[in-house]
Amino acid sequence: MKVLVVGSGGREHALVWALSRSPQVKELYIAPGNGGTGGLATNVPIPAEDVAALVDYAAAGRFDMVVVGPEAPIALGLTDLLQAKGLRVFAPSAAAGQLESSKAFSKDFMRRYAIPTAAYATFADHAAAARYLEAHPAPIVVKASGLAAGKGAIVCQTDAEAQAALRQIMVERAFGSAGDQVVIEEYLSGQEVTVLAFADGRTVKPMLLAQDHKAAYDGDRGPNTGGMGCYAPASVLDDALLRQVVARVLQPAVDGLAELGAPYVGVLYAGLMVSGGDFRTLEFNCRFGDPETQAILPLLRTDLVDVMNACIDGRLDQVALEWAAGSCACVVMASGGYPGDYARGFEIAGLDEAAKLPDTVVFHAGTRRDGGRVLTAGGRVLGVTSWAGGLPEALRRAYAAVERIHWDGAIYRRDIGAKGLRAGKEAA
Ligand code: AMP
Ligand code: GLY
Repeated sequence: MKVLVVGSGGREHALVWALSRSPQVKELYIAPGNGGTGGLATNVPIPAEDVAALVDYAAAGRFDMVVVGPEAPIALGLTDLLQAKGLRVFAPSAAAGQLESSKAFSKDFMRRYAIPTAAYATFADHAAAARYLEAHPAPIVVKASGLAAGKGAIVCQTDAEAQAALRQIMVERAFGSAGDQVVIEEYLSGQEVTVLAFADGRTVKPMLLAQDHKAAYDGDRGPNTGGMGCYAPASVLDDALLRQVVARVLQPAVDGLAELGAPYVGVLYAGLMVSGGDFRTLEFNCRFGDPETQAILPLLRTDLVDVMNACIDGRLDQVALEWAAGSCACVVMASGGYPGDYARGFEIAGLDEAAKLPDTVVFHAGTRRDGGRVLTAGGRVLGVTSWAGGLPEALRRAYAAVERIHWDGAIYRRDIGAKGLRAGKEAA
């Protein structure tokens, strides 16, 4: 098979890594890829948002399958345009992708299909939203409705912070047109968990649970990022609760979209808040998570191509997902200053030394190659990933690899997986 992956992040590096392990994949391309993907796939210099160029390239190249990583091209209709050219695409249509591209759509959808979520209100007018905040004291969450690279949800501990967040989104337009509408949401406390699931329009099958670390600094402090690290499997939901998540969140979402004429094919991402044996849906995303993918795919034993083909052909019910025992941990190394402003172009040292550790892969995100050197080129730079028989060893290995890697200003959280270790000790 000849496969094209779209995207340039750590998630896409993990996708080409997993696809390259399939004996069915003979030729692998990635557009645009990054400084780490070139060893596994051919980097094609087309940006993920240039859907017209991607469609031309994919159609001319006679690809057997296109796998879309990020949300932006999905929202721009890349899946629909590729399918119109007769290509097989592993990603949802733009209509189904609204579950992520519009939080207003997503919240109304959850209400309509009785999917448990936080109470909310939607506004297109700043004055009305400000009055709502006066009547609903902090803590409260203010979210830009549109796509904002994981940074559009602002958790506000005081009323002043909430009004400032609202001004930032609606008046200063910090996220551009993503802030045309805001969703103001009840604050939920508890443990977060990500449930990624394969879907074929009808059947939905969850992957291993993963726990992301969205806050920038240790102890879950600081601004939200795209995700600073992850481990899998997470034990936040037991088997009985996971069955409830399938029955009350994932299956109703897939059934609801089918009923609306937009069957969901691809990976459905449910971000959940779990507390006291109960859960609510914080968000849906229409793709693999980043960095969840880096922590999940190394444990997948089933051929990823078989799973993706089954989703595209509507026969996911015939595929069993098999997982390796053990745990996988991914520690994100980011540029100093991220998620705010940061400088690029620093040379990264120690990549080869890090990769010598057993069962360790350094997934690249914001990197580029300059001759023999690898330079930083984004906010999240690397996802240093290790797996082992248990979470403590996976974390120890991943951090040992992190310690071998250096560039000016690199930052990372030192407590990735700490909640998972605590949960493990309590269970023991
Ligand atoms: P979202 O993009 O909607 O998933 O929000 C990003 C992050 O903000 C989540 O992963 C949570 O950490 C936090 N968050 C979102 N909504 C809420 C909420 N209702 N209560 C508490 N935290 C939230
Ligand atoms: N890790 C968060 C996301 O992929 O949206």
